[in-house]
Amino acid sequence: MVKVPSISMNNGLSMPGFGLGTYESFGEAGRATKHAIDVGYRHFDTARLYENEEEVGKAIQEKIKEGVVKREEIFIVTKLWNTDHEPEKVEKACRKSCEKLGLGYIDLYLMHWPVAFTERTPYEYWPLNDDGQYDNADVDFLDTWKSMEKLVDLGLVKSIGISNFNSQQIKRLLANCRIKPVNNQIECSPQINQKKLIKFCQDREIIVTAYCPLGRPIPADKKPGFLYDAKLGDIAKKYNKTIPQIVFRFLLDIGAVPIPKSVTPSRIEENISVFDFKLTSDEIKYIDTFNTGERVLEFTEARNDKNFPFGIEF
Ligand SMILES: NC(=O)c1ccc[n+]([C@@H]2O[C@H](COP(=O)([O-])OP(=O)(O)OC[C@H]3O[C@@H](n4cnc5c(N)ncnc54)[C@H](OP(=O)(O)O)[C@@H]3O)[C@@H](O)[C@H]2O)c1
Repeated sequence: MVKVPSISMNNGLSMPGFGLGTYESFGEAGRATKHAIDVGYRHFDTARLYENEEEVGKAIQEKIKEGVVKREEIFIVTKLWNTDHEPEKVEKACRKSCEKLGLGYIDLYLMHWPVAFTERTPYEYWPLNDDGQYDNADVDFLDTWKSMEKLVDLGLVKSIGISNFNSQQIKRLLANCRIKPVNNQIECSPQINQKKLIKFCQDREIIVTAYCPLGRPIPADKKPGFLYDAKLGDIAKKYNKTIPQIVFRFLLDIGAVPIPKSVTPSRIEENISVFDFKLTSDEIKYIDTFNTGERVLEFTEARNDKNFPFGIEF
């Protein structure tokens, strides 16, 4: 069983420095969560969007009942979806997530994106207009945040954070909040290593979580390239590790918390087994050469929105 180090957050609480992603786990998230708990994972990342909060929550509840973990050892992260940004909708959305998870409180509740969508009937997660752009709603994320702060007061969530926010948006939020975000969850892998945004967040005591840490591999296309790189293969051999393990170690070494998704038991185990070695600065420099800035999630259908986060350098 792997022991994952905890990281202190700016509110005095702490989060486990490695987690399990659960996006697109297609009915396998529960089994994956249980296996992950058995091998040492304590941090689980879900969202309203993933439609698996019930499954992940049930798996955790069962492990608590079995006596394998205590509730307070688990760190559950879920997210407010873009159609729920109106201040009066936030508490209801959060209560729904709490109910689905069945774990009492939520450890960390994130605003999934800084962009708000209009809610349609019938419901659509990704409402598109005829021009191919999202049907955005005119809600200021500062107003959404105020409602998220109330969730902490109500005891529904222990901590609040953001996701996919750029440095300017973070600055604006920090200048106008009562409770600081503890975390910014962003895409981060060797191909978009986010060193500038990580430094910006670290300077403001915001922990960065790395989503798509493997660049969401497409094995048939041998993508992303870093997973198939011969020199990275040699570095992996040197430590008796795999390339994905080298990638997670790299992300930890540059100050991010990786949350790789896997439903494969051997990979769930492989991915977390990265706390018994460290890369040299030359090896980190080599992995830096893959930093093209290419994103898996470009979010281009929101590029006309005033809160589109990817229009500036970081
Ligand atoms: N905040 C946001 O906007 C946002 C956006 C995207 C993702 N996320 C979160 O971040 C998590 C991770 O991102 P992601 O799922 O998009 O991408 P990812 O973790 O980079 O890639 C997941 C894929 O990698 C495979 N994989 C996992 N470990 C592997 C290994 N050791 N060797 C080879 N392949 C491996 C998985 O396959 P198997 O499952 O078949 O093993 C799965 O197909 C998500 O699940 C979600 O929780 C958040």
